[in-house]
Amino acid sequence: VGDRLALTPPLGWNSWNCFAGAVTEKNVRDATDAFVNAGLRDHGWTYINIDDFWMTKNDDRDRTLHGPERDASGRINSNPRFPDMKALSDYIHSRGLKAGLYSSPGPTTCGGCLASYKHEKEDAERFAEWGFDYLKYDWCSYGNVEHGTGRAYYAKPYDLMGRMLRAQPRDIVFSLCQYGMDNVWEWGDQVGGNCWRTTGDITDSWGSMSGIGFKQDGHEKYAGPGHWNDPDMLVVGWVGWGPALHPTHLTPSEQYTHITLWSLLSSPLLIGCDLTRLDDFTLNLLTNDEVLDVNQDPLGRPARRVVKREDETEVWARPLEDGSIAVGLFNLGEEEATATVTWAEIEAKAPKAVRDLWRQRDVEVDSNGYTVKLPRHGAALIKVTPGA
Ligand code: DGJ
Repeated sequence: VGDRLALTPPLGWNSWNCFAGAVTEKNVRDATDAFVNAGLRDHGWTYINIDDFWMTKNDDRDRTLHGPERDASGRINSNPRFPDMKALSDYIHSRGLKAGLYSSPGPTTCGGCLASYKHEKEDAERFAEWGFDYLKYDWCSYGNVEHGTGRAYYAKPYDLMGRMLRAQPRDIVFSLCQYGMDNVWEWGDQVGGNCWRTTGDITDSWGSMSGIGFKQDGHEKYAGPGHWNDPDMLVVGWVGWGPALHPTHLTPSEQYTHITLWSLLSSPLLIGCDLTRLDDFTLNLLTNDEVLDVNQDPLGRPARRVVKREDETEVWARPLEDGSIAVGLFNLGEEEATATVTWAEIEAKAPKAVRDLWRQRDVEVDSNGYTVKLPRHGAALIKVTPGA
């Protein structure tokens, strides 16, 4: 469809993994302030994305209390929890950030709120008029009202909303959320998707995060500037849906693995935590510019798995625009392990420099390869600059 937007993967925050159905306008404003105050903006982080539950809940009680969800011409009305969407996006913009919104092609969202079915045009217009820059479009109830199979069926609602968004007088990043059905990575770009979820929802467990992340091999050829595979949001910091909010269950090593792998995969990085409870460890994890540069590399070629060894270590690598290669070494095992990559495996001539990106320092160049001791579930990320 044309690569104008999201030429590098979107970086931002999303309300779902910490506030879920309880999200309020205040949460979003507080997240915006915390985002800027923590300095995330200065490292390239940009989007404040509101997920499900910003619209009126589409039930009788809500209707009685708050009046109709749409006006006579079909346009979404504001509601008491999000009383003024334009003012909210203005506020986000005033802090130097971009604003994201959420809807579904079905009649209701996954959470049972009002959604865009048969109102795609009015909604695209309304979202643009409100000043939003990003739309996550979540399949949810679409299958309850439209039935079918095959690519044409799965692509139809995304193609429709994609066209409506492109007709607006502002750029709106289009994020497809249908959990990878019908190999969306093969056609997401053709319906105007700037990114597409490749899996179901992530949670903050090693099984979920590593199960999703290490299954992304093979998807790399479908992504590039303007269109990205999305293995779901970051489960670092305080996550866990409202009252159950807790520090992530991922260990520090597992969090390094999470950010290392998502950076290698050119995934959109959407922080899922309560930013008002950001601790130093999480902040450092999210603001290492040399690591973020791998995610944001303008060549836009996601990593592939180079080797998976019997000792449960793996090596993933991606070429970078400057001719160097980013290499991740991972230990998926339950014990400490020594992981190795040889230069032959990544098809690199004897390198002239090797840099440890998490530690931001050059390491001694070995003529055969790189070897590192990794804790259980841990990772290392290096940048290899091949010699002439
Ligand atoms: C399912 C999506 O995969 C999640 O990311 C989130 O948007 C929820 N729906 C919201 O209901």
